[in-house]
Order: sequence, then C-alpha cells, then structure tokens
Amino acid sequence: MNARITGTGHYLPGSPIHNDDLPKELDTSHEWIHSHTGITNRHWASPEEACSDLALKASLKALENANCKAEEIDLILFSTVTPDFISFPASATLLQDKLGAPQAAAMDLNAACSGFVYALETAYAFIKAERYKKILVVGSEMLSRIVDWNDRSTCVLFGDGAGAVVVEADEKASPWFSALNARGKDAMALTRLQGGTLNPYKSGDVVDHGHFLAMDGKKVYLFAVSVLGETIQNLLKQSGLTVEDIDYIVPHQANSRIIEAVAARNKIPMEKFVLTIEDTGNTSSASIPIALDILIQKGEVKPGQRILLVGFGAGLTYGGTLLQW
Ligand code: ACO
Repeated sequence: MNARITGTGHYLPGSPIHNDDLPKELDTSHEWIHSHTGITNRHWASPEEACSDLALKASLKALENANCKAEEIDLILFSTVTPDFISFPASATLLQDKLGAPQAAAMDLNAACSGFVYALETAYAFIKAERYKKILVVGSEMLSRIVDWNDRSTCVLFGDGAGAVVVEADEKASPWFSALNARGKDAMALTRLQGGTLNPYKSGDVVDHGHFLAMDGKKVYLFAVSVLGETIQNLLKQSGLTVEDIDYIVPHQANSRIIEAVAARNKIPMEKFVLTIEDTGNTSSASIPIALDILIQKGEVKPGQRILLVGFGAGLTYGGTLLQW
C-alpha cells in the first residue's frame, strides 16, 4: 500500500508582530533581525489559547481540504516541543477530543523541529504496514511560551503556529523516499534544561534561564547547513533523481541564510525553495506543514510534481521526505 497527502491546513494566531514591535528592552532592531535571519514578522498565541487549540484550527482546515470527516481518522500524530502539559496528557489526546474523533488512536511525537518529518514517515510506515488508512499528522507549537525574553539572540527568532496534513492509503500513489537521522552527541546545543526528570521542578524554584530555550546558535547554524544538504543528496540518491526533477523544496524555516547557504553549496536554484519565514519566524515542527499548506493554497502544485520536505532541529535531529503530489 502507498500513501498520499489528501489535504493540508495551517493556522497562525493573532496579528503579525513586526520586528519593530518587539519589547524595547531587547536592544535589537529590524535591520539586525532581518539581515541575520530573514524574519520580519511572527505570530503569538493569545493567553487563552493552548497548543492543541492551534492544532485544532489547522486540522479542521486540513480535514476540510481532504474532504474527510474527523470520524474517519484512524490515528492522530501530534508533533510538538511545546505540548499543553509537560509529559501528559498528550496533546494528541486533547486534540482527539476537540476534533470529535473518539475512534482515533492518538500520540505525541517529539523530534523538535524535525518532528513533522518524523511524524510523516511514521504515518507512511503505518499505512505501508496496512495498520491504518487515514492519519492526521499535525505540527503545532507555541515557542513564545518557552523562549527567554531576556535573551535577544533567541527570542526574536521564534513564533507560534500549526500545520496539519491528512495522509491516506492510496494504491495508485508513488512510493515516498525518506531519511531520518539524529546526532545525539551534539544534543546539548539546543536545550530547555529545567523541568525534566534530570532537573525536576522543586517547591520554591525561581524561574530563570534554565526554564527556557537556550541555543548555541553558531553550532546549530553549521549543523543545519551541512545536514540539510546531506539529506537532500541522500533523497536524490535513493530515488535516482536529480535536482532538476524536484519541483519544490519545503525546508524547516529557521533562518533564510541557512537556506541560501544550502542552495549555493548544493547548486540548487533558490526559486525551488519555499520560504515563509519572513512572516512566521521559526515555528519549530509547525514550520514545514505551514509552508507546505501555503504552497498548496497558491494552487500552483500540479499532480505528479515532486516535493521534498527537509528539516533539522534540537536533538540534534534531521531528516526529509520526498513525495509525489
Ligand atoms: N539583535 C541585535 N544584536 C544581536 C541579536 C539581536 N536580536 N542577537 C545577537 N546579537 C548580537 C550578538 O550579541 C553579537 O554581538 P557581539 O559581536 O557584540 O558579541 C552579534 O549580534 C553577532 O551574534 P552572532 O550570534 O554571531 O550572530 P549570527 O550571525 O551567528 O546569527 C543566529 C545568530 C541568527 C542565531 C544564527 O546563529 C542562527 O540562525 N543559528 C541557527 C539557529 C537555528 O536554526 N535554530 C533553530 C533550531 S530548530 C529547533 O529545534 C528549535
């Protein structure tokens, strides 16, 4: 059995927050942020919204576009590093209830910014194994809740949002190619140190840097440029295709300079890359499905065209999927 994406959807909460509208205490500027990252705007969820609420809005659009009812979904795969609750209940189960899909199995998956690609491959494998026929794959994130608002080198980069796809069994679809990897030895380059079982919360704890996202930006940058290229080449080799055969590359939207460096090193025209970072910032595992939906809603992708999704993130994880629309 093969699989096909039959519907996509995304949701960005609230109004765009421009670089000029960031808190003045940050000592930053539109010029610095835009020239170093390509970001102009990001979105922040309202205090009333939870990560599963963003996921719900993206999922409803994906289901509508797939012409699929929530009651038909067999499995919900929810990729996030910013779940509604630490550990449990899984955000996937909260989404299952909000969607009205009590028949669906539901689980969270954390591979950081590569999480959507990992979840998509998981969905594909379940369909290949003929365990499930219709799977909802969601990437939903609220980075605004976990960044350190005293650290200008990270907080300006991230935003909130959700993207979702419906994956369905389809005998006539072409096989997908996939590459999932991790470099655990560099895991400490991107961390949130407090609150896990190694550093559990204690009564009387003061909220400080350890409670927020921390990143060795240069290390992650160099890693990203190297592994995005490696993954693209891996997928081309597996499929026996060349760059010319790929119509669109949808990369994780972390920094437009990373994408430009990957394009230059691998001799790939920049026009093949779908870039949405200017208006979203880095939404971690939501970024690829958001960019994919924006591409699909433009109406330019034709059946049979090839799309390569590629991501990297904390862990350090990386991976990609090559599929035919
Ligand atoms: N505004 C103004 N100045 C700033 C800001 C800011 N927001 N942030 C840093 N600076 C300053 C620094 O203090 C430094 O000043 P100094 O030279 O006086 O010390 C200077 O700018 C240069 O800082 P660098 O860190 O060298 O800047 P760089 O050009 O490397 O860009 C960046 C930093 C954008 C973070 C880059 O390293 C990067 O994109 N890294 C990859 C990040 C990434 O992809 N993260 C996503 C991971 S995915 C996930 O799983 C969450």
